[in-house]
Amino acid sequence: VNDWSRPEAWENIRGDVATSTTLPPAAYTDSDYFFQERAAIFGGGWCGIAMVDDVSQGRVVVREIADTSVIVTRNNQGDLRCYRNSCSHRGTELVEDDGEIDNVLRCPYHRWTFDLDGTLISTPLFDTESIEDFDPNVFGLQEIRVGAFAGVIWASLNPDVPDLVDWFGDLGNRLAGYGLERYEVRRSVTVNVQADWKLLTENFQEYYHLAWVHPELAKVSKVDDHYRFQGPGRYCGQTTTPISAGDNDEWTTLQNGSGLSSSDAESGRHIALFPNVMLTLLPNHACTFLLEPIGPGESREHISWSSPHEPSPDDLDKLVDFWVLVNDQDIDICQKAQRGIERGRFKGGRLSPRFEEPLHRFYNMLADRFEGIDRCPKGDLD
Ligand code: FES
Ligand SMILES: [Fe+2]
Repeated sequence: VNDWSRPEAWENIRGDVATSTTLPPAAYTDSDYFFQERAAIFGGGWCGIAMVDDVSQGRVVVREIADTSVIVTRNNQGDLRCYRNSCSHRGTELVEDDGEIDNVLRCPYHRWTFDLDGTLISTPLFDTESIEDFDPNVFGLQEIRVGAFAGVIWASLNPDVPDLVDWFGDLGNRLAGYGLERYEVRRSVTVNVQADWKLLTENFQEYYHLAWVHPELAKVSKVDDHYRFQGPGRYCGQTTTPISAGDNDEWTTLQNGSGLSSSDAESGRHIALFPNVMLTLLPNHACTFLLEPIGPGESREHISWSSPHEPSPDDLDKLVDFWVLVNDQDIDICQKAQRGIERGRFKGGRLSPRFEEPLHRFYNMLADRFEGIDRCPKGDLD
């Protein structure tokens, strides 16, 4: 059993990108690595678990973080709340499926009842007088840190990581002009992928593969029009400027958001928010991927399309069809990568500094979490 919290485990990716290797192949194939990663990355810091639009007031959703079942809802002030999905009486699962709630959370077993801030407010027939030292105040729900960023709900099982805004550094300011809080999710889909979640985000972070994997996309998004989009913060990103219309106006049909800066109005932003969210932002819509690890070499993509203005059904279909075409190409190549790494017994490779520097940045953020280092990557100079 390899201990991935040791600095020696990561020494080959710690130098400059020009000297760095790819991640150790075990990171994509080994079940022992998978469980350590689940604890260190998904249990050890913020991760994206739902879209903000999934949790309107009066709704509760059930999600998993690092094999822990949690529920997310809003209190009476509309603030997000997240709790472990377990009753404080004898541990029963509180909520089985996403659904509506009526101002309280009730355990199905003996009807202990909690308000939306997690306070225990009712214990039917429990007769607290006959128990010694029973203080209902310490039997509230176990709260988990939760917040919203870039249209996504993030939670952290680790109480010691920086606040969500600080986690992403300057990204909040960079995205402020889009007014993402005014975007609404118009369609969502979930896809199973036979590839590790890291291969999906690494693939998203580089456009080196553009011409060969995406001939259709290469018409609207050209290799030479890409620039880095990385300040100090836990994310990797690039910008495409300008965005071309392509053969069928796939990316440009929807109506732009209002009040965009001239740069935002002519750019596509492709941002991998650490660890598990991929966000493409165009002046008229956003496409968000939440990556859920299932096992070594297996993951799930929860994809949502959102926009500031309501699109016509035809325009939305056309947009989603184009995205699905491109994304299927990405999934196909990532599954090939997974198979080659796993079944071809890959020994590890090297990165192109021009195209694959974001991957190196991602590897180092990953290694930092394993080693317990709270460090925000610096911004690019270019
Ligand atoms: S286990 Fe929840 S009320 Fe008894
Ligand atoms: Fe791609």
